[in-house]
Amino acid sequence: MADLVVNNDLEDLRASLLKAVAGAPDLAALDLARVEAVGKRGEITQRMKTLGSLDPDARRAAGQALNVLKTEIEAAIVARQTDLARAERAARLAAERIDVTLPVRPDAEGHIHPISQTMEELIQIFAEMGFTVAEGPEIESDFNNFTALNIPPEHPARQMHDTFYLSPTTDGPARVLRTHTSPVQVRTMLNSKPPIRIIAPGRTYRSDYDMTHTPMFHQVEGLVIDESAHMGHLRGCLTEFLRAFFQIDDLPLRFRPSFFPFTEPSAEVDIGCSRKGGQLKLGNFGDWLEILGCGMVHPKVLEICGIDSTKYQGFAFGMGIERIAMLKYGIPDLRTFFDADLRWLRHYGFSFLDQPSLGLGLTR
Ligand code: PHE
Repeated sequence: MADLVVNNDLEDLRASLLKAVAGAPDLAALDLARVEAVGKRGEITQRMKTLGSLDPDARRAAGQALNVLKTEIEAAIVARQTDLARAERAARLAAERIDVTLPVRPDAEGHIHPISQTMEELIQIFAEMGFTVAEGPEIESDFNNFTALNIPPEHPARQMHDTFYLSPTTDGPARVLRTHTSPVQVRTMLNSKPPIRIIAPGRTYRSDYDMTHTPMFHQVEGLVIDESAHMGHLRGCLTEFLRAFFQIDDLPLRFRPSFFPFTEPSAEVDIGCSRKGGQLKLGNFGDWLEILGCGMVHPKVLEICGIDSTKYQGFAFGMGIERIAMLKYGIPDLRTFFDADLRWLRHYGFSFLDQPSLGLGLTR
């Protein structure tokens, strides 16, 4: 009889405690429900305290029933806790939701980096002369970066390039970070047939760092191959480009004999300038500034790249993009290009609405 009363009573208690736990609207309410059930003065705890007055058999039975109930209620509390915590986090995330596609502040508007701007400009000029843009990977094979360009292993020109080598592999010489854009010449000749007329702007790498060198920099390569291209065309093409790029109609060019393993003859090109009063100014002022390297593609290079050197010939040139950007926009220190300094970018950068400034007589 007493057992029955206890059991009925426990059934009611179980139902009401589970209801309180499941119905707790938040973590604070759940904690209250926990205290009322299993806290020091909680319903289950109170009943456990009365067990001592029962006779041994009844005590064991009632004690077991209370422990089972306690375990069940505690499990229900943990489950409800997990649900509530998850719901609370979801609500907070929803409330704190931000639109990352919006600009942070109107004054934090981005700018076009001078390198990007300069690339756009030179692509536009060469595009008008009928060049298309070619690309190649920055991690190159030793063959494309050196051997195919008539720079065999042990050639002294390899030392001059301060090459970054990757870890050696089992399938040939270690690959390199390309030291110039000239491997794109090789790739283009291997993969297409003349006539060829491409430029290849892109990143290049050499292990060097000072006022005028950074380990990563940019070059643009030019390559023209057909049956009749000659040094005069090279000269005309570069004259046209440099005058358009610097927007100086009478900018003089000087071709000095030079050496590159992959061109023959080779030349370095200077443009006219003045250094009066410590100020560098481009134009027809009698002084000279070196600006790029070029030459007629070496017959050996044509042959290695599968082009019949008795039928085809052509010219190539390569120049540093930072260098021409510094000259055009008056940027004094090469290293600042890669400092990621927003103040620098605000000063030297371009609005994304600006068109590359190439129209005659137009300046920035
Ligand atoms: N690749 C040469 C360099 O990095 C430049 C060059 C390109 C010279 C094409 C001649 C012809 O110095």
